Amino acid sequence: MSDKMKVILDCDTGSDDAVAILTAILSPRIELLGVTTVAGNKEINFTTDNTLRVVDMLRSDVPVYRGCATSMVAKLLPNRHGDYTGMTGVKQDKLDDKGEVISYHHDCLPMPAPTSKERPEHGVWWLIDTLMKSEGDITLIPTGPLTNIGMALRLEPRIAGKIKQIIFMGGGFKVFNATAASEFNIWADPEAAQIVLTSGVKTITMVPLDATHQANFTREDEAELRAIGTPLAIAVADLVDERIVAYNAYQPQELADSAPIHDALCVAYLLDPEVLTDIRHMRVDVDISGGFADGQTICDTRAYPDRPENCYVALGADRLRFSRMVIELIRSFR
Ligand code: BDR
Ligand code: CA
Repeated sequence: MSDKMKVILDCDTGSDDAVAILTAILSPRIELLGVTTVAGNKEINFTTDNTLRVVDMLRSDVPVYRGCATSMVAKLLPNRHGDYTGMTGVKQDKLDDKGEVISYHHDCLPMPAPTSKERPEHGVWWLIDTLMKSEGDITLIPTGPLTNIGMALRLEPRIAGKIKQIIFMGGGFKVFNATAASEFNIWADPEAAQIVLTSGVKTITMVPLDATHQANFTREDEAELRAIGTPLAIAVADLVDERIVAYNAYQPQELADSAPIHDALCVAYLLDPEVLTDIRHMRVDVDISGGFADGQTICDTRAYPDRPENCYVALGADRLRFSRMVIELIRSFR
């Protein structure tokens, strides 16, 4: 019997999702059962294609299942997402010196087009089947909008008792990006996030912006990756560069000339719980009002919350522990 940790990733790949996927594939301590894809950073065709790019680049046979192409409810409400400024906080994109739009995520990752194919089954059904057949030993790591997980829980609520734990990237305690009150993954599908948080899954860990912004990759990390010299390391160095340029343009970080690789922090936490610090058990609910706080993760910090605690919230991270882990795993791949 394998003593590897069984994991399913659910991603809107995405530059930082890509690093989460490759960290999971490269770790000898993880058995990655599959990756489901969801719309978020890009539409579903791109997030699925990008996921296959990462899997192929690692010569892996991890199956990829396409999931939901749109949020459960959010996009049905007129004007709900009308003011969205693309996480930039400004109405207009900025251009680099070649006249190209500066962006956190380009449509396609800087990796060869995939030759492998997604599996025919829908991601949500595959999630349900796999969890129902499991022995309650699967960790779910969603790194995009929670649409697939919310849908799966609605279709088959018994999966809640089958999930060992959920570690998701999303939300904010005091730090936000999509709007003044919300983080992108939760803002993109607030109803799905609220379904997940109230599902009764025993252990849910939220990795919000407050933690991911403390685990940034720097220009030195980028140079170290480039010096490794393999196609994989160079592709990740390019992603880090793109992200640093975008963060410098739109969300300058406290650590100058650096960028968070949000999603990979969830996988790193599974491998080494000390990469996250200041973890608090709290009541977290999502604002689904459609108002100014739409998509906000409301963390009840009172000693006696009205409703029981449902989520571990990480407020800090150990940057070096995280970057060392990811870089060494990339170095190990030839
Ligand atoms: C989250 O939004 C996406 O752009 C990233 O991939 C990450 O999952 C950060 O808010
Ligand atoms: Ca993501």
